[in-house]
Amino acid sequence: MAVASTNDRGSWNSKLGFILAAAGSAVGLGNIWGFPTKVATEGGAAYLVVYLICTFLIGFPVMVAELSIGRKARKNPVGAFKALSSNKFFPLVGLWGVICGVMILSFYTVIAGWAFGFAFEEIFYYFGWMDAANWLTDTGNGPKNALIASVFMLGTIKIITGGVSDGIEKATKTMMPLLIGIMVIMIGYVLTQPGASEGVREYLLPDFSKINTTLIFSAMGQAFFSLSLGMGALITYGSYLNKKENIPQAAALVTIADVGIAFLAGLLILPAMYVAKNAGIEIFVGDQLASSTDLVFQILPALFHSIGGAIGLILGVVFFLLLSIAALTSTISLLEVPVSFVIDEYRVKRKKAAWSVGLGVLVVSIIVAFNTSLIGTFDYIFNNLGLPIGGLMTCIFITYVWKTDSAITEMEFGFAGIRQTIFVKVWPFFIRVICPAAILYNIIRNFV
Ligand code: TRP
Repeated sequence: MAVASTNDRGSWNSKLGFILAAAGSAVGLGNIWGFPTKVATEGGAAYLVVYLICTFLIGFPVMVAELSIGRKARKNPVGAFKALSSNKFFPLVGLWGVICGVMILSFYTVIAGWAFGFAFEEIFYYFGWMDAANWLTDTGNGPKNALIASVFMLGTIKIITGGVSDGIEKATKTMMPLLIGIMVIMIGYVLTQPGASEGVREYLLPDFSKINTTLIFSAMGQAFFSLSLGMGALITYGSYLNKKENIPQAAALVTIADVGIAFLAGLLILPAMYVAKNAGIEIFVGDQLASSTDLVFQILPALFHSIGGAIGLILGVVFFLLLSIAALTSTISLLEVPVSFVIDEYRVKRKKAAWSVGLGVLVVSIIVAFNTSLIGTFDYIFNNLGLPIGGLMTCIFITYVWKTDSAITEMEFGFAGIRQTIFVKVWPFFIRVICPAAILYNIIRNFV
């Protein structure tokens, strides 16, 4: 079993534990809230196609890169870039990652709070306590947002203080099969309802004329966000990874789990939108969606209420609880990055680091809770822009500073025959040419 380098760093207990924790980091609001919302508002099936291309061709190679850097250096993103070269610039890239993590976390907890609140909304609705139910559905209610986001953040801090294997790994172990199960049941229900086929068509039949630079830029940002790339979360998770694990294989499993759940979420939400429309719920104003940020939070409760009775109640409560858990395994990874930075670089104890960083982020969260319009702005700067820039810098670092061959050597520990496979030819080419070119082109086109 893995040996921790210091008590406060920690390590994963098992391969499955790592896969689940990394998949838990990947699978979150990005899959179930972000992805369907973007598909619905930005081009339907055409968006799905571009998203899949971005995930496999740009995201996956970068994931392998981050995990290799992390496992070699056994450090947080700032420390890792410092450890692998004497270059003074790249630790700043790591620091940018830490900042992106903090800022993403600040709005992520607010949205996670909405999801958590809706689990209770379903109960209040069932019992006819409409005032309480409506209080929870109001996504613009500052004090309510702040209250639930705080609960969420405290939960995250608590788990992080537990450390890597007892805290993070344990917390992520049962939720995935449950989440998939309940989603499949709901998809089965939705697809049999009138109107669903229009949503299925919108989701699966691409109209390629909808592809433009904005759509591609958004899909690329979404791919980075969903895979938790570009800010060193996987450098950090890789730093707890045992030498005998096969990095490309682990990355492939995490990528497939992430894409699979996003795909299922789309298959649920898009048809559900049209079922709701068919039932006379106003989700469109003319051709345009009436809302985007809280789209999922309007469609799904409407769906559960239309199912009605005890079944509607149970599905609703369980779904929103699972969504909250999926969000929690993601906030854990977002908070773990700045916490590991403080532990490694300032030699602070894990408990103290988790509380001080966590409470600091909470202050920003509360500001967002009262000004939810900040969500879009933060999402644009730190997610759509910040993460691809981090990914680009990672590619440049590996190509010109640390060298792809050193990364392959690191991968060899868990994948003995790697030099005889085609991977050693293809992956460096992607890291050197395809990924940076695609990212750079997208960023520039988006501004021009
Ligand atoms: N991937 C998560 C989601 O889809 C969000 C997330 C967790 C994340 N950790 C991250 C995004 C690190 C970027 C970087 O909801």
